[in-house]
Amino acid sequence: MRVLATTTPGLEPVAADEVAALVGSDGERSARGRLRFETDPAGLARLNLYARTLNRTNVVLHDGTVDTLADVERAATGVEWTRYLRDGQAFAVRSSRHGEHPFGSPDVASAVGQAVVDGYRDATGHRLPVDLDDPDVTLRAWVREDRFTLAVDATGPSLHDRPWRTADHGATVRPTTAAALVRFAGHRPHETLCDPMAGSGTIPVEAALAARGRPVDPTRAYALADLTFLPDGLLDRVRADHRERAIVGRTCALDTDPECAAATRTNARAAGLGVDARVADATETPVDADRVVFDPPYGHRMDGGGLRRLYEGTFRSLDRGSWRSVVVLTTREDLVPWTPDERLPVRLGRLEAAALKFER
Ligand SMILES: C[S@@+](CC[C@H](N)C(=O)[O-])C[C@H]1O[C@@H](n2cnc3c(N)ncnc32)[C@H](O)[C@@H]1O
Repeated sequence: MRVLATTTPGLEPVAADEVAALVGSDGERSARGRLRFETDPAGLARLNLYARTLNRTNVVLHDGTVDTLADVERAATGVEWTRYLRDGQAFAVRSSRHGEHPFGSPDVASAVGQAVVDGYRDATGHRLPVDLDDPDVTLRAWVREDRFTLAVDATGPSLHDRPWRTADHGATVRPTTAAALVRFAGHRPHETLCDPMAGSGTIPVEAALAARGRPVDPTRAYALADLTFLPDGLLDRVRADHRERAIVGRTCALDTDPECAAATRTNARAAGLGVDARVADATETPVDADRVVFDPPYGHRMDGGGLRRLYEGTFRSLDRGSWRSVVVLTTREDLVPWTPDERLPVRLGRLEAAALKFER
């Protein structure tokens, strides 16, 4: 089956690498933050249970070109809806549109919704309920320029919402983004990793969970459990096949703020992990770890001179440390004194940032 997965815009190559490792498929970036690939039901389940860099997976039902709303309607009518929905299942259509069109995204949603109701009724004589607030099945309809993709959500609420996050911090990085940075750094399960500006510990916690091969959220429900075209008991079978690693490398978290060190400990405890969280100044503490991954302050709460000194001091201190790779996520590349070996442009909400990798 064709799958369209979403990830942090810019980190598609890293997400594609994780997809390849988990299900053996080569992902192709189809738009910013989107990846397309083929997999089977077990692969779809494995990604939902263990992929740390993906936000959501969708099974593609139709993919083609459109000019008019009538083309959208025709494409949605062509889907055999009795394969994807069963009597009594309430559905919703979520739509988005990019480009110049003589119609809006609500028109797309209602054209698809009508095609589903009509197609299902013509085939079965029964009417499917629509529930926009709490549907059993969510259909996604995207129009991007002249491309129309219709898909069914296999995930439900975004995977970035991790159960271990019990202590927050004003400027946390998304766990899916953190996991992608760790992967970008080339972190292997037996290696050590340190975040010298760890805030509430998102990066070290995600690194430690990835090293163990823990499920992303052991207790959550997945939309794919309600999808009639997937085999019964799929998630349980895939879970039963999985083994966690017992022995992994150490992860450490430094921050000048004692409340951040405490937040990291709280989050690590909630994740069932031991993370070495300490109060330390990154400008004065040379780090000794295989991988160093961090997102320094972007400076919204600091004056320009303070931020420049922070970057200069941190890189000077990194220079004195021992490591194999450093990955920095920042909106202030201009303050980074080294030339990266690799660079990925990353979109963080409305901010344009970059993930910079340095190797020794
Ligand atoms: C953008 S936040 C990191 C957020 C973190 N990744 C998370 O998800 O919670 C940057 C952190 O750097 C810390 N920081 C600022 N200056 C520092 C320094 N000189 N040494 C260590 N940490 C510092 C701040 O206290 C803040 O927690």
